[in-house]
Amino acid sequence: MRVLFAASEGLPFIKTGGLADVIGSLPKILKENGVDVRVVLPMYKKTAEKDRANFERVGSCEVHSGDIHTIATYYKTEADGIPFYFVEHAGYFERDTLYGYDDDGERFAFFDKVVLEMFNVVGWMPEVVHCHDWQTGMIPAIAKIHYANDEAMQSVKFVYTIHNLLFQGIYSADKLWSYFGIPYEWYANGTLRFHDNCISYLKAGVVLSDKITTVSPTYSQEILTPYFGEKMEDVLRMRQGDLSGIVNGIDMAVWDPATDKTLTENYDTGNWKAGKAANKAALQRDLGLREDPNVLLIGLVSRLTTQKGMDMVINRLHDLMSGDVQFVVLGSGDKGIENALKGMEHQYRRRAVFYCGYNEALAHRIYAGSDLFLMPSAFEPCGISQLNAMRYGSLPLVRETGGLRDTVQPYNQYTGEGTGFSFTNINADEMMNCIRLAMDTYYFHRHAWDQLVLNAMNKDVSWNTSAVEYHNLYKQLV
Ligand code: ADP
Ligand code: GLC
Repeated sequence: MRVLFAASEGLPFIKTGGLADVIGSLPKILKENGVDVRVVLPMYKKTAEKDRANFERVGSCEVHSGDIHTIATYYKTEADGIPFYFVEHAGYFERDTLYGYDDDGERFAFFDKVVLEMFNVVGWMPEVVHCHDWQTGMIPAIAKIHYANDEAMQSVKFVYTIHNLLFQGIYSADKLWSYFGIPYEWYANGTLRFHDNCISYLKAGVVLSDKITTVSPTYSQEILTPYFGEKMEDVLRMRQGDLSGIVNGIDMAVWDPATDKTLTENYDTGNWKAGKAANKAALQRDLGLREDPNVLLIGLVSRLTTQKGMDMVINRLHDLMSGDVQFVVLGSGDKGIENALKGMEHQYRRRAVFYCGYNEALAHRIYAGSDLFLMPSAFEPCGISQLNAMRYGSLPLVRETGGLRDTVQPYNQYTGEGTGFSFTNINADEMMNCIRLAMDTYYFHRHAWDQLVLNAMNKDVSWNTSAVEYHNLYKQLV
């Protein structure tokens, strides 16, 4: 079985969020299951500067598509036994950040086209192309329209995974021609049309792929409703028979408190109390918090956006800080949220810290050093952070949505079961009540708390089960 993953980011090369975690970890387990899986990514500036010299140049192709006339070069390398291909184009990709440019639509149109041109150049033809998120949504459309007479290409199957329905790649209808050279009839007949005068790359992926998945069973149901559907619910309902939810896992080698080199002290379920205490003390020391082994230390590592429930957190900061807690936040995003968190740090010196930015090592240290991990998302397709937190024995406190609902078992005070805490509605009072329950458990029912930590650390957050589900999906197609 030959499968190509096409995505806009992936570890160990480039990451802005959970998508990169998935692209960096799932292929490894698929490979263990006997799949010949390879990955193709754009070569961004960071990768070009750091790694290009070590990559093998494997060829190039000319692109003539609509108004795009240029050349792409392919590079290849291997990471943990997985072949990675890179599409090099300095003008489109060698920029300071990955996304957020006016020409993102053109950049990823180019990428999608170049992914399909790659097979002949590198001499490897996948049986399944597995596309991820809006950036790769047009790949099946290009394959069906521009390669209509190419027998080999018509036998390729497409799987499309939605990691976040909020981002869809919506552009004006004229771009169908100027970016892709696709005739107007594909808009006019409705296939690639998205509401008034627009196209959506994500819709194209949903309509023209053979199977559609999203990253948790609950999210696969939620997106069929107007509240979560982002105006795509009707299209998704039409494809419901081919839509499924497969929950994410994490890279158990990268996220392992027993071997993690960024930690002050390594630990596992046998010595977690001493291990977490040492990491907590180090975190407090490094961040200028009061060194106190007994205080409940709450961690939050996230994009700072409405999706992540940050409005509720900001609204109740003072409530939260009125309890006997310390609070460490790592992330960046909306300026209003960042400013509120800067204010918090100022007001609650030695009790609250906001590290504004992206910091891989600090993220690991927060998972290890915190007791509770706050993730009250308004919606969450899956979430990787709560999985990391459980693995590191920091109990996630989440809202019951998407993958959070599917992966965190809420504390049951009567049976003692659970791997974290959860609340139901997007409601700051509910969130605060849940935080109070966590505080009460931590301070007054330590035995129950300790059991939850063990449950969380013992929970299977690996890819083992889900990789088999993806493999079975490919088998259905080939
Ligand atoms: P999303 O992809 O929606 O942002 P996920 O929970 O799926 O959310 O994945 C987020 C990933 O990015 C996790 O691995 C988390 O540890 C990491 N992460 C998020 N923000 C930061 C940050 N500021 N610094 C370091 N790592 C971060
Ligand atoms: C998206 C989602 C997140 C998910 C990640 C990887 O970024 O927001 O919930 O875990 O993709 O699938």
